[in-house]
Amino acid sequence: MDHFAYRDGELFAEDVPLARIAEAVGTPFYCYSTATLVRHYRVFADAVAGLDADIHYAVKANGNVALIRLLAREGAGADIVSGGELARVLAAGVDPARIVFSGVGKSREEMRQALDAGIGQFNVESEPELQALSEVAASMGATARIGVRLNPDVDADTHHKITTGKAENKFGIAWPHAREVYTQAAALPGIEIVAAAMHIGSQITTLGPFEAAYARLREMVGVLEGEDGHRIAVLDLGGGLGIPYGNEDPPSPAAYGEVVKRVFEGVDKRISFEPGRVIVGNAGVMVARLIYDKRAEERRFVIVDAAMNDLIRPSLYDAKHDMVPVRLTNAPVSPADVVGPICESGDTFAKGYDLPELGEGELIAFRSAGAYGAVMASTYNGRPMGAEVLVNGDDFSIIRQRQTIEELIAADVVPDWLA
Ligand code: LLP
Repeated sequence: MDHFAYRDGELFAEDVPLARIAEAVGTPFYCYSTATLVRHYRVFADAVAGLDADIHYAVKANGNVALIRLLAREGAGADIVSGGELARVLAAGVDPARIVFSGVGKSREEMRQALDAGIGQFNVESEPELQALSEVAASMGATARIGVRLNPDVDADTHHKITTGKAENKFGIAWPHAREVYTQAAALPGIEIVAAAMHIGSQITTLGPFEAAYARLREMVGVLEGEDGHRIAVLDLGGGLGIPYGNEDPPSPAAYGEVVKRVFEGVDKRISFEPGRVIVGNAGVMVARLIYDKRAEERRFVIVDAAMNDLIRPSLYDAKHDMVPVRLTNAPVSPADVVGPICESGDTFAKGYDLPELGEGELIAFRSAGAYGAVMASTYNGRPMGAEVLVNGDDFSIIRQRQTIEELIAADVVPDWLA
């Protein structure tokens, strides 16, 4: 359930008409709903409430500082993957002890920053990374609490670009090496083992892959503790739960929570989660304006002022985002290719998508755009980064200013010899 609904034929975010926001901030823009964000967070938290659960919001899904702060206020920690995300979550006021640092390529500099901040956990993904973290921590007289991210070789049955738990993926420690990596970690200075971690992919729409991977994890942790004598206090289960974009009917957080409870029945450990999309995905829309409705010989092209630089998911993952007119109309509906102004054919949001005839300047909302939307934007084709707005009841705030053209080019430097 979200809080984007029509009233008298006008699409609102909570109590604010999207058209009013468009007037105020221009287009394209992203708009998030506070009530929806809070609701989604609470639904997830309720789903895992019977466990000794810890939720680390995966900031990569949407790293706006205002959103992170809102979720932190609801009780979320943070899952980060870079020094940039570390700075974001610290700026948002997340308790450093509730920060988990994931990712295959943490640099020594990023490790230092995170140790300085006193983060709760590093999820280590390779032996060289473990070695580097040990050296950095020892040189600072610090201790890095680690989880080892294990790759269970389970097919998450999602888009191949966002599956992460197969042996062929770059993520985690291959199953057959798990025990030796824990043994190494136990012997290294500056390292304290606290967790076993996994994350098998994103936009997962069935429970089978989670169940299979978690069952493997349980078994491995039994061996690590029983035979090898390690103490694993935390099981970090990653994120990945899918959301409905259109016709999908993914399992509810409650059903997912049941699987976790079933698999880890009788296991007395802290269970931590790294949900991203399921919290923010359907709490945001992107709003664009129609520039031209172009009738070509064979096709209709609806050209909007947002493009693949603003929302790249359709181009990159063949993702489908529902598109709806912000003002309802009785005009005849016909199939259209919805495209942006960027100079490549991949700049297509949908093909043959049924849309009513819309005049120039009409607004179109792209649904389910809260996750991996604004954060994946670029300035390709000299297009400034769009604005982001957070609605709260009948109020809205700009939480990211639209980039100006001056800012867009400001970092470019013409060398003296060309001046
Ligand atoms: N934890 C780790 C270690 C991750 O790599 C990810 C996502 C998450 C948690 C959160 O997963 P979620 O709950 O959001 O599925 N850009 C792609 C999705 C990439 C996901 C990357 N990792 C997309 O637009 O579909």
